[in-house]
Amino acid sequence: MTRIFNHLPGSLLTVLLLSQLCSSVKWLALSHTPASLHINQTQHCKLLPGLISSQAQLCRINLELMQTIIAAAREVKKTCQKTFADMRWNCSSIDIPRDSSKYTPDLDRGTRESAFVYALSAAAISHTIARACTSGDLRMCSCGPIPGEIPEPGYRWGGCADNLHHGLLIGAKFSDAPMKIKKSGSIANKLMHLHNSEAGREALKEAVVMKCKCHGVSGSCSIRTCWRGLQDLKDIAMDLKTKYLSATKVVHKLMGTRKQLVPKDIDIRPVRKNELVYLQSSPDFCSKNDKLGSVGTQDRQCNKTSIGSDSCDLMCCGRGYNPYTEKLVERCHCKYHWCCYVTCKKCERIVERYVCK
Ligand SMILES: *[C@@H]1O[C@H](CO)[C@@H](O)[C@H](O)[C@H]1NC(C)=O
Ligand SMILES: *[C@@H]1O[C@H](CO)[C@@H](O)[C@H](O)[C@H]1NC(C)=O
Ligand SMILES: *[C@@H]1O[C@H](CO)[C@@H](O)[C@H](O)[C@H]1NC(C)=O
Repeated sequence: MTRIFNHLPGSLLTVLLLSQLCSSVKWLALSHTPASLHINQTQHCKLLPGLISSQAQLCRINLELMQTIIAAAREVKKTCQKTFADMRWNCSSIDIPRDSSKYTPDLDRGTRESAFVYALSAAAISHTIARACTSGDLRMCSCGPIPGEIPEPGYRWGGCADNLHHGLLIGAKFSDAPMKIKKSGSIANKLMHLHNSEAGREALKEAVVMKCKCHGVSGSCSIRTCWRGLQDLKDIAMDLKTKYLSATKVVHKLMGTRKQLVPKDIDIRPVRKNELVYLQSSPDFCSKNDKLGSVGTQDRQCNKTSIGSDSCDLMCCGRGYNPYTEKLVERCHCKYHWCCYVTCKKCERIVERYVCK
């Protein structure tokens, strides 16, 4: 196999590799879609990058949903990069290019990192739809149902609940579509992606909180109107990051009559539905290796006083670091003037920062 590959020109090789791999998060390329593209005609679906045919069909029969899904793709990218800003792998792999021939499939290798991205993507798409129902952006849905149980004294149900049920239903339809097609990729990879997507939606179900608004004379809060809302995506991403750190390595193995994913090292137990699972160990992400999806940590900022993953020791993999200074301009000596404005001065402050060698 490798011998044949050595004789092929690079571009053909890419095409070959791409046709072998199922990329089920290519829809994240939607994050490049300009905000000005108004999707109100079925032929607009063709302009959207990264969709497989059943997703494009969902687009055509559900045009108004697409703006929400594009927003979800942007949200996934931003949230992943923020959540992993203090880690060696900084979610670089999520930059899915519009041009699919430039796609590097490191999210399809079945690593812990791809587990996180699939879980976050599935959670984000359902989260965004659930919220869009509430804000009135989608005609097909509105507020979630009023809870059945009787509220405590002083509380009453009201407001507009996030429509988690609808978010989960439609979100799963869209984000799981690529894993449901027969020809794409290995079965083990597809099972892994499906499992992690489901784990992402489980994390979303756990993120339902009670939100309330006070009423009463001059903020006395004698009565509260409450509804079920979802935590922000960044909080769900933090929960999934914890699950990423304790993810379980699995193998694809015959269990009874069916091949399933089972934990590799622990005695026989089924995988739990809320844990993240992966098939391949990750590189240490210290040095650049395009094949493994590692951009390396050279020039990454590190924190000299931290003892966590962003410490200069861990981030720079023992290579050492270079200091540089940065000038911060801040508002200071602010004064309140009666009535009603504030004036501030500008102060400069020099801070020392460090980047990995
Ligand atoms: C589609 O959206 C564009 C841009 O907002 C607008 O100019 C156009 O009239 C819309 N077309 C239809 C059929 O609603
Ligand atoms: C991730 O790290 C690489 C390598 O240092 C850097 O080029 C890139 O800008 C970083 N990405 C983000 C989102 O910080
Ligand atoms: C560095 O880490 C310390 C300890 O965790 C933290 O208090 C500080 O804000 C961090 N500095 C920067 C620049 O992130």
